[in-house]
Amino acid sequence: MSINALFEPIAIGDMELKNRIAMAPMNPGYTGPLGYHSDQSTAWYAMRARGGFGLIITECVVMNPHRWGGQESLNTSLLIDERYYRFHSEMLDVLHHYNGVKVCIQLSPGWGRQGHPHAESRDCPAGAPSAIPMETDMRKLNKGWHKQLKRLAPPEVAPLLPDLETLQNMNDEEYSAFRMLVYEVLVKHMPDMAHIIFGDTPRALTIAEIVDLEDRFAAQARAAFLLGYDALEVHAPHGYLIHQFLSPRSNQRHDIYGGSLENRARFLVNIVGKTREAVGPNKPLGVRLSGDELMPGGITHEEVKQVVAMCTAAGANFFDVSQGSYENPGAAFAPDGENDYTRWAPGFKEASKGLPVITPSFINPETAAAAISSGKTDIISLGRQSIADPFWPAKVKEGREKDIVKCARCGRCYADLMTAHWLGCTVNPLAGKEKLYPQFWLDTPGLKAKVDKFMNKAHGLPQI
Ligand SMILES: Cc1cc2nc3c(=O)[nH]c(=O)nc-3n(C[C@H](O)[C@H](O)[C@H](O)COP(=O)(O)O)c2cc1C
Ligand code: SF4
Repeated sequence: MSINALFEPIAIGDMELKNRIAMAPMNPGYTGPLGYHSDQSTAWYAMRARGGFGLIITECVVMNPHRWGGQESLNTSLLIDERYYRFHSEMLDVLHHYNGVKVCIQLSPGWGRQGHPHAESRDCPAGAPSAIPMETDMRKLNKGWHKQLKRLAPPEVAPLLPDLETLQNMNDEEYSAFRMLVYEVLVKHMPDMAHIIFGDTPRALTIAEIVDLEDRFAAQARAAFLLGYDALEVHAPHGYLIHQFLSPRSNQRHDIYGGSLENRARFLVNIVGKTREAVGPNKPLGVRLSGDELMPGGITHEEVKQVVAMCTAAGANFFDVSQGSYENPGAAFAPDGENDYTRWAPGFKEASKGLPVITPSFINPETAAAAISSGKTDIISLGRQSIADPFWPAKVKEGREKDIVKCARCGRCYADLMTAHWLGCTVNPLAGKEKLYPQFWLDTPGLKAKVDKFMNKAHGLPQI
């Protein structure tokens, strides 16, 4: 299989991509206080731009200004109003000096029931479609999660954790007893993890609040393009707020935002429609969706395809594939192997009548190139593999595949994020320390040529 398929250019709206390799959206938690991008955020993305990614999709950036947005605790990047703009534009100014790289912001209206209560006002529940808490089915943990729970568990918790096979094969009765035991111990000794597994009860949003979020989303999307983002992706997968509206598990409203699929999709479709109107006809405007919730009673692939068609009609011009939710973390964050998500991509292509589709979860260049050559997806994205090796695209292009540092699927990165640690990587010692090593990403000819020209005019001047 030729790897050339990875290096064909492709256009989405008015954006030309130099290759088919995207960095998948990942929140590394490097933002500074109150959700402002930090120097480390810029360095983190710059190193991946230097490594040859044609498209960088940012971490999920939240535009919800309210205390009930639920975005507290994961150090989420925000784009709420003018105070945040200069930090995004500084980062974009650096990134755009790298040989044609394009940057797509992933924008979210909030986290709903998967969110944490506000750090300063814990009595303020997150806003969601219905007052139904989420709960992770621990039988759906995978090898990575299991390994991390074992690593992080304090002595009071560790003995409770059976081996993975025993956990995955528990019947409902056994699981119910196990769940009660875990709940009591986790709440006391691992509250961060308790929150991820047993969510808090959210508050059902009013129609006025929902409409306000739709309007604010479109306004911040417009601002994002003015700041210099090349594309925008609506964050609608993984059980977060928009997904909660789509799913019958979390949406039991009886108004125009609940019930039929058309009603459950209304929040997303309105966001896409209002955003398209705000940003004009040619901007790349995509939607990321879980191809299937992979939970009983959750949104199915057939329904997701109908949502894709609705979003297309409302003005979306690309899609990004994912799967699962916090309730099924082995699927969403993230499978142990590779190429698990490609099964949903053809459904997205069919329902959107052939719009460009991005699919994540690759390690090996041949597998990634085959996914494109087969016509299943148009662009591949690397999540954890881009953490493990920011230089994957350049190494593949140069025929240095044996130099690729492969992701070990150990789960440390997402466990770090969920437990409020500085995100690092088992196989890449630079991950999380990029700002300390600018020599590995600041050698871009674009920026250097401009700076040299400017400095030549000051060359040899005496100090006066
Ligand atoms: C640390 C971490 C943070 C993530 N944050 C986001 C996010 O902000 N938005 C999103 O849509 N997906 C997020 N994901 C999911 C990834 O985009 C991707 O779908 C998943 O990791 C599977 O792809 P991979 O096998 O290439 O890693 C995150 C994944 C990881 C590991
Ligand atoms: S090797 Fe690095 S990127 Fe891969 S799962 Fe482990 S910590 Fe995450």
